[in-house]
Amino acid sequence: MCGIVGYVGKRNSADVLVDALSKLEYRGYDSAGIAVMEQGDIVVEKCQGKLDNLRERLAVHKPQGMVGIGHTRWATHGEPSDINSHPHGNKRVTIVHNGIIENYLEIKEFLLGQGYHFVSETDTETVAKLLDYYYDGNPIKTIHKVVNEIRGSYALGIMFREFPDRIFAIRKDSPLIVASGEGENLLASDVPAILKYTKNYYLMEENELAEITADQINFYDPHMNPIEKEVQVANFDMEAAEKGGFAHFMLKEIYEQSKAVSTTILPRIKDGMPDLSECGLTAELLKGFRKIFIVACGTAMHAGMVGKYLIERLARIDVTVDIASEFRYRDPILSEDDLVILISQSGETADTKAALHLAKDHGAKTLAFVNVKGSSIARDADMVIYTHAGPEISVASTKAYAVQLAAMYLLTFELAYANGKISKEECRSYMEQLTAIPDLITKTLEVKEECQFVASKLLNAESLLYIGRGLDYALSMEGSLKLKEISYIHSESYAAGELKHGTISLVTDQMPVIAVATQTDLFEKTVSNIKEVKSRGAKVIVVLKDGMKIEEGVADHVIKIPQVENIFTPILTVVPLQLIAYYTSVLKGCDVDKPRNLAKSVTVE
Ligand code: AGP
Repeated sequence: MCGIVGYVGKRNSADVLVDALSKLEYRGYDSAGIAVMEQGDIVVEKCQGKLDNLRERLAVHKPQGMVGIGHTRWATHGEPSDINSHPHGNKRVTIVHNGIIENYLEIKEFLLGQGYHFVSETDTETVAKLLDYYYDGNPIKTIHKVVNEIRGSYALGIMFREFPDRIFAIRKDSPLIVASGEGENLLASDVPAILKYTKNYYLMEENELAEITADQINFYDPHMNPIEKEVQVANFDMEAAEKGGFAHFMLKEIYEQSKAVSTTILPRIKDGMPDLSECGLTAELLKGFRKIFIVACGTAMHAGMVGKYLIERLARIDVTVDIASEFRYRDPILSEDDLVILISQSGETADTKAALHLAKDHGAKTLAFVNVKGSSIARDADMVIYTHAGPEISVASTKAYAVQLAAMYLLTFELAYANGKISKEECRSYMEQLTAIPDLITKTLEVKEECQFVASKLLNAESLLYIGRGLDYALSMEGSLKLKEISYIHSESYAAGELKHGTISLVTDQMPVIAVATQTDLFEKTVSNIKEVKSRGAKVIVVLKDGMKIEEGVADHVIKIPQVENIFTPILTVVPLQLIAYYTSVLKGCDVDKPRNLAKSVTVE
């Protein structure tokens, strides 16, 4: 979704703003723009398209000044166009905005009645004009008046011509940080944008306001009282947010999975047992749940699907997995005895956040699996297990999924032990196997060339099927999503046993099938399903565990993952599926890290 940045300091702000925006490109966008205070006037440059288009414009005319705001827009109200691009406003007040103003039509009508004219189709322009309408020489009072009238979500960067040495920022339901450097201060939607300048930043709470000059940042609470805030220090550097020699962030992040999984599990092992007490999960609490709901979107929801199989199998607790956008409107039957687990890499996904609030309203206990420190979901949930993937820049989630699974294993073992479903010895043995997973992920990466070969065979396919049973089915969902989102080849994941109830009619020699068959107890049944598609002409790629064999002629290509117990195969099998998707996208010449129409952090419904 949109990215916003702001700068006040000693450098040419246009350069800093474009550089900072380039670190937010992963969020997804279709246009970009900046506003710079140039000799007392607000000068705007903006255009549709990638940042390079804006750079070209700035090569012709770059506004000179050390104060400015910038924006990458992901269109919601009005098509991507120069006019609809941010910043919006007039000579007196100009803003950038991330979020959606729900009552913008009402406000627009009011402002039209006051003689204002609108040039764009955006909701943002109404906020800019409302600021202008209420402006009385006091920016802080004006901003407060406006946020009291708008409904929806917003992170706003604001410039007033009469205050040429400062910018203002406020947020609600959209992420925003304010960063403090040496003689320069910034604001941004996310940490990677500020790392080149400083590692120190402040997390803005709902409706807190920041007034930012080059050497001072003043914060105000929602009642306009000055407040002190605690500084945060980014625990990763520029390098973690750069490609580091890899062709794409996605490939780099696939290779980082082993380390990320170690970082997520190792600090949570005590005496060989899982220990999530730092997250507020005590054995006492884990004993009492009637039912568990796992709620998330996209990849995070797929991690939840694996979680359902794991928890039900080992802890024997009923688990329902929901897509957050459905959960929030399906009137779920929740009680105080239920645990609702929200999974989110960004911690800002609008539907997941709404699901969290719904669960809280019903009195259920809420536990968030979140990667981004201090994000809304992490802050609002009763308990949080931080996954330690580090910054994930590629829109296609890879290492974030691996760490979500790693955290799910920890939780499953702790739940199963607390509920007396596994003994201490069994729990220790599972933990030992989990500790070996990071090395096995590294070993699994050795199938890279085979995946490249498979990708070369998929290039011209129009559609693909992923099939599997049990955990293999849950995992295939993620393989299928990876392929379609970055290579634009349609694919579906199907429970292998369900194919013959309809979908098999689609299978021809034009429909490749990727079959995951790593579950030893289900192997023969899955092989029967593989034979069914093979005999209808499909080219079949089969993923097996080391030591498993499939009859000659059933598979066109076999990829093997290392030998592990059945419950651990998803965290390894995902690696070849990610690599197949990655190489297919590369070979097709797609924009791997920034696939069309997608945003990294989906902050709208
Ligand atoms: C998958 O590659 C996507 N990035 C997407 O499905 C993502 O997992 C989903 O939008 C949820 O995001 P979140 O984890 O930040 O909540």
